[in-house]
Amino acid sequence: MKRNYDSEKSRVEETYQHMYENQTLKYVLHHQNRIKTCRFNDKDMTIRETLELLDHFVDESDPDISDSQTLHAYQTALAMRSLVNTTRSIKIRDLFSESDFQSLPEIVQKEYDELHLLSNLVDEELCEQLICIALVHDLGKILCLQPFNYPQWSVVGDTFVIGLPLPLHSPYADRFYHSTNKDLTNYCDFEYKIGRGFDSMTFSFGHDTYMADVLERSDTKLSPESIYIIRYHSLYCFHSPPDGQPRAYGKYASKKDWMNLPLLKLFSECDLYSKKSNLEAHEDIREELIAMAEKYIPTLKF
Ligand SMILES: [Fe+2]
Ligand SMILES: [Fe+2]
Repeated sequence: MKRNYDSEKSRVEETYQHMYENQTLKYVLHHQNRIKTCRFNDKDMTIRETLELLDHFVDESDPDISDSQTLHAYQTALAMRSLVNTTRSIKIRDLFSESDFQSLPEIVQKEYDELHLLSNLVDEELCEQLICIALVHDLGKILCLQPFNYPQWSVVGDTFVIGLPLPLHSPYADRFYHSTNKDLTNYCDFEYKIGRGFDSMTFSFGHDTYMADVLERSDTKLSPESIYIIRYHSLYCFHSPPDGQPRAYGKYASKKDWMNLPLLKLFSECDLYSKKSNLEAHEDIREELIAMAEKYIPTLKF
């Protein structure tokens, strides 16, 4: 499913402009450190409390949604719940367009064809967790609220690697707002090694990395794959490049990144699909979703 960047251009474009101009290595390292040492709240918070905080928050980078993040959370969880019964019988190849599949490294194509069905990557336990992470995937956007109060350009939108040229099919990259940001125009002095994997790289500061870090320090029962999906769900230039465009950063991906790519693609379908749907999240359904998610995440250490 494609995202629509034609509507509400100014609001979305401005967010990306500030993002590309200001997400430098210095900025990212400083703020990563800040949120590690400064807690959002003195006490742990539940999923319900966090959803309530985001009830009036609208993401300014998203061309497809003008609803609150709370509604988006419920709709994504519902979209995942409706898909989960069939998830395991999905062919991995069918998650890719033909041209996208053909552009994968041969060894990865072979591996996906041998695995054949998603059931070989997703067990029943992970299926249930997918609904849970759909509910919480964007909770890291509380970075925009007090006391952190980050501007939206620093929290929302697609993510990208710092220290490598910005992929040219990133949103609004053709306007060259990043031209003044040396950390997005040059191969900077980084130790990025081919095939070493994304976990060894520095990504733009935002809600994905923050939420994954929060989940890692909270007492959750989530699998590493679930936390991986949260961490990289906005890395569209890698998991879902526009049709006919090359996949970004593929040469730096490790075996772990390639094995998780089908999960990212599956998840992004639900994330995007839910925005175009009229899925109704009535009170009793909301309660069910929260109760299920709390089995895995009793509280969150923001
Ligand atoms: Fe997100
Ligand atoms: Fe989302």
